[in-house]
Amino acid sequence: MELHITSGRPLRGRTRVPGDKSISHRALLLGALADGVTRVRGWLPATDCQATLRCVQVLGAEVSPLAEPAGIAPASRASSADLLVQGRGLRGLREPTEYLNCGGSGTTARLLAGILAGQSFFSILDGNEQLRRRPMGRVADPLRWMGATILGRESGRLLPLAIQGGDLEGVDYTLPVASAQVKSAVLLAGLYAQASVIVREPGPARDHTERMLTAMGADLTRAGNVVALAPRTSVLMPLDITVPGDPSSAAFLLVAASLVPGSEVVVENVGINPTRAGLLETLEAMGARVEILDQWEAGGEPVGDLRACAGEGLKAVEVAGPLIPRLIDELPILAVAATQASGVTVVRDAEELRVKETDRIATVAGELRKMGAEIEERPDGFAVAGPVRLRGAVVESHNDHRLAMALAVAGLLAEGETVIRGTECIADSFPGFEAVLESLRD
Ligand code: S3P
Repeated sequence: MELHITSGRPLRGRTRVPGDKSISHRALLLGALADGVTRVRGWLPATDCQATLRCVQVLGAEVSPLAEPAGIAPASRASSADLLVQGRGLRGLREPTEYLNCGGSGTTARLLAGILAGQSFFSILDGNEQLRRRPMGRVADPLRWMGATILGRESGRLLPLAIQGGDLEGVDYTLPVASAQVKSAVLLAGLYAQASVIVREPGPARDHTERMLTAMGADLTRAGNVVALAPRTSVLMPLDITVPGDPSSAAFLLVAASLVPGSEVVVENVGINPTRAGLLETLEAMGARVEILDQWEAGGEPVGDLRACAGEGLKAVEVAGPLIPRLIDELPILAVAATQASGVTVVRDAEELRVKETDRIATVAGELRKMGAEIEERPDGFAVAGPVRLRGAVVESHNDHRLAMALAVAGLLAEGETVIRGTECIADSFPGFEAVLESLRD
């Protein structure tokens, strides 16, 4: 599929974005382990979350639509679903008779690895070609130290992984990188450990797993960047979860509205968890007119309506250190914003970008350069000089949803037409992106 974008029309109006991807994965995985029925409203039926759905079903958890006869629509046809997850309890999952196909979803593979490490059965995790290239040693290593047997390609560092779980020991683990997926894998395995599990983070990675586990009755405490999970003494209670809009999806609309002259957009019902709010803070520091209109709490997460208006012109910023994990998925769209900011925007300490769906330092720089951006690739990030007038070009998604959407926003600013090739991947996180964008340009 291709997306054709031309500049010229401002973005105006109120809209919503589909549910948070990270929370949607966790609602299914934790729902499957709960003792009873979990209700999930506003679940994201994106390709990535559908992979998690298939996996929990293969592991024996029944998932059904919550009073919605149409069933769970494929990613391309819906932007939200309400589900019931019949929890199997911590010890109730069944040995799969087929391999667990995580598609292209790193969150599915890494969080499931944590759960499977605690099961007294054998399972195989696999994914598509893209996911098979992504590092799994970061989860396999701590899980092995806890007592699981995990084999895989390249000494157990790449999918497919064969996992024989069982009785686990506690661990005091310092994360080598700020990764919510690794932190979550260790905590989920910790549900099966005989002693406490302690995870030390170098920086604040998203904390949805901790929030959900606490709400389910787990004995979890946090002191600074240290999370401790005590051994389980009781069942996990099921939750009634309303998934907020995904801030990583809202990011594309907010940046577009900040940059396209004459725009004013309100994105309603967006998650504003501080561990995800790095882009909002950075846009503010750049002089963008973004604000939280109203905020409340839903399902243990802070949520708000966000407004962005086109302003006078942005200024360059430096983004580094503990801010990076708080906007890691927003760096492709931040690069687009940086092309319009005066001065040199520098992103450092973001080498993790190299192991996302693509090497996002290389792909973002390579594709934006085709549109005339002055962007220099660095080992741990990039430097963007601005402002420049982008020009329309034929660009490639490299099968990376966030790159595809960032390029679409760049297209809104470019002279002439921009053609983005390979846009089916957008459904990995934001089914309906094109329609939402169009609805704001009327
Ligand atoms: C995610 C964590 C992040 C993020 C990914 C979703 C999660 O990955 O990039 O899109 O849901 O836990 P890392 O944990 O690898 O940083």
